[in-house]
Order: sequence, then structure tokens, then C-alpha cells
Amino acid sequence: MTQHFDTQRTMVRSLLQQSPGPSRVLAKGWIRTKRESKDLIFFEVNDGSSMANIQGVIDRSTAEGKSAIVDSDLHRLQNGASVILEGVLVASPGQKQAVELHISKVQVVGDAPADTYPMQKKRHSFEYLREIAHLRPRTNTFGAITRVRNLLAMAVHEFFQQEGYCWIHTPIITASDAEGAGEMFQVTTLPLDKIPKANPQSSEQGIDYSRDFFGKPAFLTVSGQLNAEIFATALDRVYTFGPTFRAENSNTSRHLAEFWMIEPEMAFCDIQGNMEIAEAFLKHLLRAVLSKGREDMEFFDQRIQPGIIEQLTQVVESKFHRITYTQAIQDLEDGAKKGTQFDYLPSWGADLQSEHEKFLTEIVYKGPVIVTDYPKEIKAFYMKLNDDGKTVRGMDVLVPRLGEIIGGSEREERLEVLQARMAESGLAESVYWWYLDLRRFGTVPHAGFGLGFERLIQYVTGMQNIRDVIPFPRTPKNAEF
Ligand code: 4AD
Ligand code: MG
Repeated sequence: MTQHFDTQRTMVRSLLQQSPGPSRVLAKGWIRTKRESKDLIFFEVNDGSSMANIQGVIDRSTAEGKSAIVDSDLHRLQNGASVILEGVLVASPGQKQAVELHISKVQVVGDAPADTYPMQKKRHSFEYLREIAHLRPRTNTFGAITRVRNLLAMAVHEFFQQEGYCWIHTPIITASDAEGAGEMFQVTTLPLDKIPKANPQSSEQGIDYSRDFFGKPAFLTVSGQLNAEIFATALDRVYTFGPTFRAENSNTSRHLAEFWMIEPEMAFCDIQGNMEIAEAFLKHLLRAVLSKGREDMEFFDQRIQPGIIEQLTQVVESKFHRITYTQAIQDLEDGAKKGTQFDYLPSWGADLQSEHEKFLTEIVYKGPVIVTDYPKEIKAFYMKLNDDGKTVRGMDVLVPRLGEIIGGSEREERLEVLQARMAESGLAESVYWWYLDLRRFGTVPHAGFGLGFERLIQYVTGMQNIRDVIPFPRTPKNAEF
């Protein structure tokens, strides 16, 4: 009797658990490699369910092997071809795999002609693989990233659900700029070649948004935070997990125009509580991937970022450092005095650059660092103003290799202070009236943060470029696939 399994992973697992002995199975997947020696044809097939391939062996010196595939079809066993294999799974004499499949029948489902298949057996650069993002999931690296991404998404929900948070689905289309930084994609149904003027008689440029779909300017959201605050001031503990969009024109290895963000928001919570939750959350995610994603993590440890398992294990076991922005600037200035070369000289009032974040996490503190109390000028309008009138209760979590992975804050819950901050930042109360209402009615100290999901995956896998940890990256001048 032939046993059927949904995936190779479940097949190998289940057969390894059974008493040893041959078992007739059906396996399917895509050919990764093939080699021949005399009567033997070896090929590796992977269905993406795990890092390990199934090694198939056709022995053409046996009657069963001879009839496994007709001679004229032998050339069809090429890299990338999809196949269904039938045979007997036995313990493998080889070192690389626990089991191998002695094949009695091969069915080539879809060919992949070697002369045109864009993925050869040799290793391709990540840059090249980005150009064939429709095929790169078939590589070991992208298979592993995809499985780790999935595992982390589940671990996000696991953490918050265990802690009693409600998952809130915040809108993707919005009329307000949550970060107040103006880096938004506009959403419109107005004809771009014939934009209706607000006043057709005048030569002024004003646009008549009353004729747009929503009757006013609308955008893709940069953050679900302001909506999450609405629910936090009713349900106490909530979180969002969804796509966010930023039209910043930065071509860096850690910026995407479309990325996923997790934003918890807690009522009756100050910046101290916020830091505790952020640290516990990150550690939960690392623990999850270290325990449930072992096979893929070993791949990243060997091929992408040597020592990463050890590094993440240490992070789970140690307490994050906590410093103020002012302390961070002091550390950087000390570093500069002692001879560290920075492209941007650190100075109080300026944003921390990526090189500064690296210096703090890799040289000074040798681990994750939470930086708090930033100058108000470089942070969003909603962050709570400190008594000094100069700094706000923002907190960024910085990690080695990557820099900022989390940004958050205690929110300004005092109506008048918030109104003054909005006026300073040039934000119209008419747009944010509902946000101000939360301070008018039953206001409460509250706090939250945002974790960039792709930055997390970069951190966990050691992948250098953020474009390689999302299935289809969106960056300036790039929206293929
Ligand atoms: O620091 P940010 O801008 O904070 C917020 O959006 C707040 N509303 C969060 C909150 O308090 N609820 O972004 C949060 C995180 C960053 O730390 C970073 O990890 C990630 O989102 N991020 C990006 N990831 C990829 N590409 C980009 N362009 C990103 N911009 C921010
Ligand atoms: Mg930030």
C-alpha cells in the first residue's frame, strides 16, 4: 500500500517515528539537483515544507528502476521540473540525509528546460534573485526566510493573545498622517491628466477634493497607531498587525515603501511599562524562532550570519540596556574623541544615524539598547512632553547589526499640551478632532510601540538587505511582481 502525505516534512517525520523498515510512499516537489553515475540517477526534490530535500535514487540496473521512467523522458529530470515520485523510503547510507527514496515511478508534471530556466544549480547573488522574485522562493534561503516569517507572525499573535490583547484591524486608507512626517502615498480617483480646480476662474493651483472619492485628500496609512489609541482607551490592551506605507525616497538596506508593522497600545501604561513589554515581546519572538525554527536557523547560522544562534540566545538571556538620548550623545561624543570616525558628527538635537546606532549597540553596550527621552523636535507630535519642556518620552529599541527595530513612546494625554504640540508641528485640529476627543473624554496615560516586521526578520536571520525578507519588496522605482 502506498502512503500519502501532504508534505515531505510530515512524511519524513512520521516515517522516522515509525519502526524502521521500508515503506512505500508518494512524494512530490521540484527538482533541485541531479547527478548520474553509471546505472544510478540521484536527484533531490524539495516541496518547500522544510530545508531538507528528499533524495531520490533510480537504480537502472534493476527491473523496477528501468521501468521508473522511459528512456526518452530521462532528459526531463531537470532542475526546476515538478515531479511526483513513487517508491520505497529507506534509511540512507549517505551522510547528508536520514532517508532516501528508491524510486519505482517518476512522473514529470511540468518541465523546466535547462537552457531557459533562470535558476541554475550555481549560487546566485541576492541582487539577481530579486529580479526573479517569482522563482526565488524555490531557493534554500528564501524557503527558510518564508518559513521563519510565518513562524514569527504566529509568535506575534501568540504573545499578545496570551497577554489578553485584542487584535484590531486598522484602516489602510486614511485621511490623517499618524507620524506627521508627510511621507504618504496619496489615494485618489481624480483624473491625473485633468485635475478639477477648486476655483476654475482663477489661475490658482488648488484642487477640488470635494470631487475626489472620499471628498477630501486620502492616503495609504503610515501607521495604525492613532486608531489603535482609540481602541486602547476603550479595551485597554490592543495591537495592530498590518501593512504600512511610506513614500520616503530612501534606498537603504533597511527601508521599504511597503512594510508590515506590529503596534501594541496599552492604556494605564507609562514609558517604563512600555519598555518592559517591548523587551518581553522581542524575547518571546526570539525564543519562538530558536525553538521552533531550529533547522532554518542552523542554515542562517552556517550560511548567512555565523554565530547568530548564539548571539540571539544571549539576547534572550540578558537584560536590555536603557539609556537616555542625552547619554547616547555623550557616549558617541566620547567615541569620537577617542578616534571613532563618524560620517555624521553626533550632536545634541540631531537624529541618531545608522552608524551611531551601530556604535552604541556593537561597541559600547554590546547588545540591544533602549534609548529614551529624545529632543521633541526630532520626534512625532503625539509623544508625551517631559517636564524639561525639551524632551519627549519616546523610546527606540536598537539592536546590533541593524539599529532601530522598534520605535514607540508614552503618548501625550494632556489636551492642552497636545494641542500646543500640534500647532507647533503645523497639524490641523480639524483633521485630528477625534484624536483630541480621546483627551477630552476619559483621558488616561497610555503608551505603545511599533515593531517593523521585516526589520525583525532581518535581525533574526542575519539577512543584509530588507528586500530579501519580504516576498515582493516595494522600493523607489520598483514594484514588479
Ligand atoms: O519609528 P516608527 O516610525 O514608529 C511608528 O510608526 C509609531 N507609530 C509606532 C508606535 O508607536 N505605535 O516605526 C516603527 C518601526 C521602526 O522602528 C522600524 O522597525 C519600522 O517600523 N520601520 C520600517 N521598516 C521598514 N521600512 C521602513 N521604511 C520603515 N520605517 C519604519
Ligand atoms: Mg522611528
